[in-house]
Amino acid sequence: MGKQQQQQLLSKIATGNGHAENSPYFDGWKAYDSDPFHSTNNPGGVIQMGLAENQAVAKFMGQVRGNRVTFDPDRIVMSGGATGAHEMVTFCLADPGEAFLVPVPYYPGFDRDLRWRTGVQLIPVHSESANNFKVTREALEEAYEKAQEENIRVKGLLITNPSNPLGTILDRETLRMIVRFINEKSIHLVCDEIYAATVFNQPPFVSISEIIAEDADIECNTDLIHIVYSLSKDMGFPGFRVGVVYSYNDAVVNCARKMSSFGLVSSQTQHLIAAMLSDDVFVTRFLAESARRLERRHNGFTRGLAQVRITCLESNAGLFLWMDLHRLLKEQTLDAEMALWKLIINEVKLNVSPGSSFHCPEPGWFRVCIANMDDHTMEIALTRIRNFVLQKKELVVKPSKKKCWQDHNLRLSLKARRFDDFLMSPHSPISQSPLVQART
Ligand SMILES: Cc1ncc(COP(=O)(O)O)c(C=O)c1O
Repeated sequence: MGKQQQQQLLSKIATGNGHAENSPYFDGWKAYDSDPFHSTNNPGGVIQMGLAENQAVAKFMGQVRGNRVTFDPDRIVMSGGATGAHEMVTFCLADPGEAFLVPVPYYPGFDRDLRWRTGVQLIPVHSESANNFKVTREALEEAYEKAQEENIRVKGLLITNPSNPLGTILDRETLRMIVRFINEKSIHLVCDEIYAATVFNQPPFVSISEIIAEDADIECNTDLIHIVYSLSKDMGFPGFRVGVVYSYNDAVVNCARKMSSFGLVSSQTQHLIAAMLSDDVFVTRFLAESARRLERRHNGFTRGLAQVRITCLESNAGLFLWMDLHRLLKEQTLDAEMALWKLIINEVKLNVSPGSSFHCPEPGWFRVCIANMDDHTMEIALTRIRNFVLQKKELVVKPSKKKCWQDHNLRLSLKARRFDDFLMSPHSPISQSPLVQART
């Protein structure tokens, strides 16, 4: 890609000279980069004293993606968690006032990470429950055109795969459509894949790296593709603050590397992580066990909710559920959703997050984190939700359009009973919950 074209695609920071790198201090680092010492291949090369390895992280990223794709350690830039990675890559790609498209519902932290200090705008891309919140070409076009009408320059599209808050993954066809879209518009694609290893059931996770590596029939300027990753979710290490920008664009790798000074991962942490991630047996077992436990927790929670006719969006990933409480709303508005949320937090004493905080346009959706507590606490939370729902009489008397419990393999156990009998039965799972038994 020509220098002028690169300048148009990237930010002024990325293409300018503000880093003050014209000093012998940085020249030494550059000397190493262009002529690195190797005991046999390059014994006369420059010896680097103090740089930590990216090898283990690159290998781990491949492992998490089923080793169907490999990652080049030289394209990895570390940052303070995915939070730092998002800001860093945004600083590289866009100038203040420019925009990224983001399909809703999306992680509320993006409003801070991509927007706050960079001055970049986020433009929501519409989605709806009618098609399970899928990202569609029509919605992308609509958001892009709206931005153009408002004279806002769109610099990129940010997707989260698997999605927070939906817990769903983007299928291969959608990913291909997205790659075509960003290529046609010549805008960047940032893929947040920090939940890649939380996929606990079929269909399998497909990384954007697989799409661009395998799909020969997709025309793709890989300079436009960037992955954000971190160990916060897949390894459960949010406190280590290990985040990654993996960019296929050399200029972005270079710029991000300079910027990473502001959010370095300590050498000690890097050494620890490298040692841990290099242990193949440990990593394989850890990921398998983690997926098994997530599936168990997910199934237990959705089954428990189904018993009081609460459904969740069907999902196979993530540390949360996207719970549908729209039937508990006084009216189908975001204000009513807020009122319900206040009740849940103040009276039921559960910190769930309302859909509006994820920019979800449809009222009644709530994200429930299910992986950050032990089994006992989960039972308490489940019992509280179920008791709360049971108090809402209208749920019991109003016939549901969808027979929710049929979606959750409970048909056999409920077949012989009327739903009301089930709710009032002394054998109902509510009065027989482990919590109640333990206390009486
Ligand atoms: C989609 C998504 N991206 C980024 C982050 C931030 O992750 P980190 O803790 O690695 O900064 C989160 C955290 O919840 C997230 O859900």
